[in-house]
Amino acid sequence: MKQQDPGAYVHPDGGPTSATTSNTTFSELGLRSELLSALRGRGYEKPTPIQAQSIPHLLQERDLLGIAQTGTGKTAAFALPMLDLLGDHETEPDARRPRALVLTPTRELASQIDESFRAYGKRLPLRSTVVFGGVGQGKQVDALRRGVDVLVATPGRLLDLMTQKHVDLGRVEIFVLDEADRMLDMGFLRDVKRIVTQLPAERQSLLFSATMPADIAKLAKSLLRDPLRVEVTPPSSTVEKIEQRVCFIEKRDKRALLTGILQDERLERVLVFTRTKHGADRVARHLEARGIRASALHGNKSQGQRERALSAFRSGGVRALIATDIAARGLDVRGITHVVNFDLPNMPESYVHRIGRTARAGREGAAISFCDPSERSYLALIEREIRRKLDVVSDTAALRQAGAVGAVSNPQARRARGPQRRRTRRRRRTYA
Ligand SMILES: Nc1ncnc2c1ncn2[C@@H]1O[C@H](COP(=O)(O)OP(=O)(O)OP(=O)(O)O)[C@@H](O)[C@H]1O
Ligand SMILES: [Mg+2]
Repeated sequence: MKQQDPGAYVHPDGGPTSATTSNTTFSELGLRSELLSALRGRGYEKPTPIQAQSIPHLLQERDLLGIAQTGTGKTAAFALPMLDLLGDHETEPDARRPRALVLTPTRELASQIDESFRAYGKRLPLRSTVVFGGVGQGKQVDALRRGVDVLVATPGRLLDLMTQKHVDLGRVEIFVLDEADRMLDMGFLRDVKRIVTQLPAERQSLLFSATMPADIAKLAKSLLRDPLRVEVTPPSSTVEKIEQRVCFIEKRDKRALLTGILQDERLERVLVFTRTKHGADRVARHLEARGIRASALHGNKSQGQRERALSAFRSGGVRALIATDIAARGLDVRGITHVVNFDLPNMPESYVHRIGRTARAGREGAAISFCDPSERSYLALIEREIRRKLDVVSDTAALRQAGAVGAVSNPQARRARGPQRRRTRRRRRTYA
């Protein structure tokens, strides 16, 4: 592949194509045989476009900003060339001094990426480990002491371990920010900056995401040296295979609508996003009380609860996982058939990541967003971000199933809404 100018946009065959197919093979990309056989073992036949377009440049030790849609293999796009390069000049693992660092915004994503490194690198004599908060640090410290090549981390725990001198970043050759725009937004920027000051100036830096707001792109560039920008599709492009629908509804009817649509068994594995942690708990309880196996995942849960909820969801033990945006980015759970935005996100990029939990690796999926009158402005932002309109669906059928249609004219349904609302309505009727 031709070397591009710094900052150049690379498109396959000169223009955007499907995000999951490319004409190259992994061996043509120049990856070593140990990696090729691990990929065969995982059933990867061909590189995805982001892989085909990034890997040759990364093998030449270029800095890179990679933008590609959700679920199109960005992890392997950085992990494979990293393992290849690290395997090139093999050294004895040095206690506490990793040779590559990957930062991610959440613990679950860090864990998943560590697993990917282990899987892709299983035929290479390289070690990977993961550190994140919410669990004891003993095992993490032991692993670091034994020596690791690749360290995957969330920023908070990494900084803790750095302060305690359990890890020294002075030998890092390759630095990755996965979900780069999130890592460089206000929530993480300070921590990331503190970490970056400890990295050698002479290093290879890689940034990947499906979204990249313009103001953050500037910041991103300041971390990169002579970077190449590989953009498979414009930032915030959503996967074509996701059916995207919106349902206009009153806030108070959302739970009934969710229960209603879950009567349809085609919604096999459903990830539901709420704005708040309490909201997630309330929805999970509501579904459980109606016999739908559900679990909540958010930052107020212990790490043990978080891991149990996610693994039950992965294995199918739980049908609906109700989560905050903690689960919006990067998570790769097989077989999520539907994503439901119970509340619309106020950050339009979150929408792109949330719905990207379905229809991964070329599969199909659907996203249904509930939009109450107060959320209309969020919807407008989202539609502008993704440069398309969502299909509007009527909630009537689903509501009827849930027994909530005709709530105003049906006295039984009205009673179910409680005394507070009845009083208001009566008063209105009196004074109208
Ligand atoms: N070349 C390939 N062939 C087949 N499957 C692949 C290939 N590369 C990656 N995959 C699979 O595609 C899925 C999505 O990959 P990955 O999680 O890296 O996506 P991503 O681009 O990082 O998405 P996100 O933006 O949501 O983080 C994973 O299950 C992965 O195993
Ligand atoms: Mg990813």
